Amino acid sequence: MIDFKKSIVQPIQSASLDARGIELFVKRDDLLHPDISGNKWRKLRFNVIQCFKNHNAGILTFGGAYSNHLLATAAASAEVGLKSIGIVRGDELTSESNAILKRCTSYGMELQFVSRELYQLRNDRYYQENLLIQNSNYYVVPEGGANYLGMIGCQELVSQIEQPFDVIVSAQGTSTTSCGLALGLDDSQRLMVVPVLKGYDSIGEMQSLMSRSAMAEDAIDFALSSVLVSDEYHFGGYGKYTWELLEFIRSFHNRYRIKLDPIYTGKAMYALQKEIDSGAMDGKRIVFLHTGGVQGAQSIIEKSGFDLFGG
Ligand SMILES: Cc1ncc(COP(=O)(O)O)c(C=O)c1O
Repeated sequence: MIDFKKSIVQPIQSASLDARGIELFVKRDDLLHPDISGNKWRKLRFNVIQCFKNHNAGILTFGGAYSNHLLATAAASAEVGLKSIGIVRGDELTSESNAILKRCTSYGMELQFVSRELYQLRNDRYYQENLLIQNSNYYVVPEGGANYLGMIGCQELVSQIEQPFDVIVSAQGTSTTSCGLALGLDDSQRLMVVPVLKGYDSIGEMQSLMSRSAMAEDAIDFALSSVLVSDEYHFGGYGKYTWELLEFIRSFHNRYRIKLDPIYTGKAMYALQKEIDSGAMDGKRIVFLHTGGVQGAQSIIEKSGFDLFGG
């Protein structure tokens, strides 16, 4: 239903990259679909296939008030004829609370609002079993699509990049995308991850997701040996930003007409720029993965009062 060919590999040219012998490309997964963009369809694709194999009625998943994953699940389910339920963090919210939740509802997703305390239990087996008693024949996908099937959907992405490269760069939230990418690399290639949460243990989180997916310890060590962590660019934590970051996103858009967002891809591209400036990437062929997310960041962009993409 989504044509992966829409995700082009776009070259980024500048005199400063040339001077450093760097070739930079953006893998434009943000072009895949307006609401199922970036890594979202990568993470959902095999989950949807599994859902059909199981003859489930639909997908039940979890997310916060501005979750890109909830929106993508609602849109993808509607597109393939599955039902969807979103368990949303915050029982003060309603389906009218913001544009993302309204859009989820318009795709037919049933939203169930739970307290922050209850939401803490989202990965608990008994809580999930209880949810399935109330919502029978649904297939549970964890928050952010963080499961084995999400991971291998992201692994598939690497095989679709025809451009030879040395380093692939991605923003990191749940680690699902980075785990998949790490599994898809050959032994000369490296993955640079940019966690967007403060104090995030990138390697520990990747290890934990891989071992939950029943991967052997030596296979995990092998995959993680290709990972470079650039963890100084969270800008204070999830959803936090500075004027400097917004200015960077604006000038990147002015120059290359590619929209980044202040939650994920803006931070990752900023981190890459800093690594380039430091000389650490000299002579490398780099692919930056555009994981989408501008839609979900819309309200943060509006609240900032900053005209990010106007110029
Ligand atoms: C736009 C965007 N980029 C990157 C990420 C991080 O991906 P992951 O959670 O798989 O680490 C997310 C979160 O899912 C996201 O919404």
